[in-house]
Amino acid sequence: MPQLHSPLSLSTTPAEKNKHTMRSRTLQLLLLLSVLVTGSSAATPPRKPKNSTPIPPPPLESIGSKRFSSSAVFPLIGNVYPHGLYYASMLIGNPPMPYFLDVDTGSDLTWLQCDAPCVSCSKGPHPYYRPAKNRLVPCEHDTCVSLHVSTGEKHACDSPSQCDYEITYADDWSSLGVLVHDAFALRLANTSIVHPLLAFGCGYDQQGTGANSPSPTDGVLGLGNGKSSILWQLRDQGVTKNVVGHCLSRTGGGYLFFGDDLVPPTGMNWAPMSQSALRKYYSPGKASLYFGKHLLAVKELPVVLDSGSSYTYFTNQPYQAFLSALKKDLNKTPLKEAFEDTSLPVCWKGSKPFKSVLDVKKYFRGLLLNFGSGRKAVQMEIPAENYLIITKHGNACLGILNGSEVELNDLNIIGDISMQDVMVVYDNEKERIGWVRTSCDRLPKSGTTPL
Ligand SMILES: *[C@@H]1O[C@H](CO)[C@@H](O)[C@H](O)[C@H]1NC(C)=O
Ligand SMILES: *[C@@H]1O[C@H](CO)[C@@H](O)[C@H](O)[C@H]1NC(C)=O
Repeated sequence: MPQLHSPLSLSTTPAEKNKHTMRSRTLQLLLLLSVLVTGSSAATPPRKPKNSTPIPPPPLESIGSKRFSSSAVFPLIGNVYPHGLYYASMLIGNPPMPYFLDVDTGSDLTWLQCDAPCVSCSKGPHPYYRPAKNRLVPCEHDTCVSLHVSTGEKHACDSPSQCDYEITYADDWSSLGVLVHDAFALRLANTSIVHPLLAFGCGYDQQGTGANSPSPTDGVLGLGNGKSSILWQLRDQGVTKNVVGHCLSRTGGGYLFFGDDLVPPTGMNWAPMSQSALRKYYSPGKASLYFGKHLLAVKELPVVLDSGSSYTYFTNQPYQAFLSALKKDLNKTPLKEAFEDTSLPVCWKGSKPFKSVLDVKKYFRGLLLNFGSGRKAVQMEIPAENYLIITKHGNACLGILNGSEVELNDLNIIGDISMQDVMVVYDNEKERIGWVRTSCDRLPKSGTTPL
């Protein structure tokens, strides 16, 4: 994967008032592509904390029980605009401490800002995670091998007792860290609380644009399909199936779940997980693109779903085709382009400010992605409310961006904006991806009281 160039260049110079949005968007985009993981012999091992409670060394191997007890559900916080991200609160450590983690189905590694000690960290919502002693994951451990392998990096063990890594997302934004393991407190649907020991990154050196400005989260919850993901570890330990789903609410919040108890038995649109080069990402394969009822004359789009991206990205050809079809439609309406609104690259204004997408929905036809063919074909609808935002200036802006500008090559990314009020399920057990339109305002009933 090439490094992304600054997503800030997507738009004209962001005005001061837009700084927050733009920064969030940058961060979000950065989470998409963990392009480079390098073992670094220069990495410092975590400092031994002075007063840590002794904890017996945990079994890192699989517990053996393959009885999948249940599912775990987490409420989500955040929205597409203006926050630009959705995050979950996770309880980690002993005693368990809360951390806000950015939900990212586009990368594998979960990591926290870490006092190991911290070389360079941004101010997060909680104190930095502090690893207790004997928490280092050795270099030869499966999770370390997988972390290095999945990113195509040489698995060098210069310091055998630890697993150093460096993730470079984009924009030269990187996190240098060491793998540790600690207990995650998960409340299962049957109300039991379990404390599986999971390997995750202790990131003690974050570099890049905005790396030192305050951050709304303490780290990243990497839910990709690589074996270093906590999903694989939970499955190995017989806690939950390797299935993850999210439901992002348009009004903010929503929920995330591990395991398959909440997946509706009927009504889901399922597509096989693509086995192609996109395998590293969650992809339902290639899709033809419709605008309204018209097939746009573009090549089939390789599509990936990524909760770590706030907006949707089309490569130049489909982006151009969609934008010109859209502009043609809008010529016949009272909407005018609002060049002065720099919230996103393309915005429209009406005679008075819009309050919600419902005010403009009638002017914008929906998009449809058609995956597969014949009886196996499945559709993903992207109605106007899943590609527009209403800015604080009352304009409607296009939340589908030009991926060629950020060098995503041939990848088209379905981001949070297009997954709002849709339950999306990434089923690594059956190697399929499913979605169904639903309200995400409320946690599903299952006797679950999230922690
Ligand atoms: C919930 O499931 C786990 C794992 O199967 C089990 O150990 C626990 O006893 C169950 N709790 C309840 C309240 O049934
Ligand atoms: C999309 O980005 C590419 C690369 O910067 C550029 O050449 C192209 O003109 C852009 N497309 C549109 C429709 O703006």
